[in-house]
Amino acid sequence: MNPSLFELKSWALQAGEILKAGVGQEHRIHLKGVVNLVTEMDQRSEDFLVKEIRAHYPDHSILTEESGSLAGLDGACWYIDPLDGTTNYAHRLPIFAVSLAYAEGGEMQVGVIYDPMQDELYWAEKGGGAWLNDQPIHVSETRDLIQSLMVTGFPYDLLDTPNNNLENFTRLSRLTQGVRRLGSACLDLCYVAAGRLDAYWEIRLAPWDLAAGALIVREAGGVVTSLDGSPDLLRPPYSIVAGNPTLQPELLKLLK
Ligand code: IPD
Ligand code: CA
Ligand code: CA
Repeated sequence: MNPSLFELKSWALQAGEILKAGVGQEHRIHLKGVVNLVTEMDQRSEDFLVKEIRAHYPDHSILTEESGSLAGLDGACWYIDPLDGTTNYAHRLPIFAVSLAYAEGGEMQVGVIYDPMQDELYWAEKGGGAWLNDQPIHVSETRDLIQSLMVTGFPYDLLDTPNNNLENFTRLSRLTQGVRRLGSACLDLCYVAAGRLDAYWEIRLAPWDLAAGALIVREAGGVVTSLDGSPDLLRPPYSIVAGNPTLQPELLKLLK
């Protein structure tokens, strides 16, 4: 039996409520790196999602941010980011979400992202369009770079390597209306899907950051590739360039 959209939505909503209940509370913060945080709420949300998936689909494999890879069938894989935007969350900045995706044979089938602070549930099923709550969403129609609003992010090893996306940020800031840094890769993708932002790029993400959001952008009529132009995103180094069909190819040419 295949997972249903209803299940993914219901689990993402419940995980989002767990996160929302923790807003404003004191958190136990651990450092995974100098600037890479994790809170007890990341783990709580993840434990809930893993428990549900394991209870209903015990033979599926799961790739999670906090618990790593949980072995199962090769062809049936879940991607969990239990709290995307942990740094925002730890600073009480209300820009974060839960991201949950299910893939078969390496092909994304369902993606659901829930922002509990805005009560926004973004979702897509392969071939079924992209949705925000019960409304269909589409990428923007902006054609000119200088009229576009973009978003990007930076890897946690920013301090240790010159390949840190800062030059791209500077270059694109001079060619567009602006480049935002919101701190939640999955919401960056949702905002591109909803046409609020025209394009998004980032380098060195992880599969759980981009799995659900990439499907949602594609189903909203957008184009999503890695930095080398490949449509296959679920392989290292997990870069991503997403945007409307006019601007995505232009952006791709401008990134280094
Ligand atoms: C991070 C956020 C951020 C992006 C980082 C991600 P996390 O995820 O999505 O926007 O720039 O690359 O790792 O750590 O908050 O789940
Ligand atoms: Ca993340
Ligand atoms: Ca996370």
